[in-house]
Amino acid sequence: MTDLSAAHDAAVTDRGRLAGSAYNSDRDLAARQSLYQWQTPRYDLPGIVAGKLSDVRGRAVDVGCGNGKFLQRLRADRPDLVLLGLDIAPGILAGVPGPVAVADATGLPLADGSVDAALAMHMLYHVPDIAHAVSELSRVVARHGLVIVSTNSDRDKAELDELWQRAAGDVLGTERGPGRISLSARFSLEKAPAFLGAEFGRVETIELPGTITVRDPEPVIAHMASYRAWADQHDVPFDATIERARTILEDHIARDGAFQVNCMGGILVCRR
Ligand SMILES: C[S@@+](CC[C@H](N)C(=O)[O-])C[C@H]1O[C@@H](n2cnc3c(N)ncnc32)[C@H](O)[C@@H]1O
Repeated sequence: MTDLSAAHDAAVTDRGRLAGSAYNSDRDLAARQSLYQWQTPRYDLPGIVAGKLSDVRGRAVDVGCGNGKFLQRLRADRPDLVLLGLDIAPGILAGVPGPVAVADATGLPLADGSVDAALAMHMLYHVPDIAHAVSELSRVVARHGLVIVSTNSDRDKAELDELWQRAAGDVLGTERGPGRISLSARFSLEKAPAFLGAEFGRVETIELPGTITVRDPEPVIAHMASYRAWADQHDVPFDATIERARTILEDHIARDGAFQVNCMGGILVCRR
């Protein structure tokens, strides 16, 4: 029998897949980010981060900066900070105003204690050696500095996992199909404090619970389809499962008026 979690772990952290497919542009990331516009309450994540950095002066680095959501906000709100974005995917960096550079979280091109803050937002679960990346964040941040990390809970968007398994089951002609890949499972909100506690004496977790309500299947379907870089990991035809999920959602919304998804994301603020 295949060890699914080991295969999923390898696929979630595979650098070729991340840089060459999942994040070769911001199309799929943007689809995932945009689902939150239907969440209540809405959280201004970049604004929360900017608030946490209010006492920070000097330099900040955004590791795994993706399409620059946090960099852009900080550049607007905090023009006094010297900001650098780093990511392993050159394609996603192409649209982000500089300075940005291609770099790996496990080998940051920065001197010891050379930045006053580091961000690692929704990215540590993609790093093969998470402990090593956390020690790199700790190495480059000055003693007085802080590290801000984000991820999702193991309970996040369980309704989408359920929808996927139902749709996959229908495609395969079984009661329930195989589960879909989870990106954040390796470094979930529940697991993160232990990783971060190895380097930081104080780790404050800010939970951000919410409920997404849609009356049109499309935003949910776009979110599900954004996992296409891992289509081969699902043991079920990916596109057929997405199409079946669309029909299930249409029926659900016609019957109940809306489809709801419970979210649990979080931010961890780390100090020595
Ligand atoms: C889910 S996206 C998050 C982007 C952004 N931080 C945000 O929260 O909107 C994950 C990003 O981490 C990058 N990434 C994955 N593994 C990395 C690594 N080992 N070093 C640096 N960046 C990495 C990916 O290329 C991608 O842009």
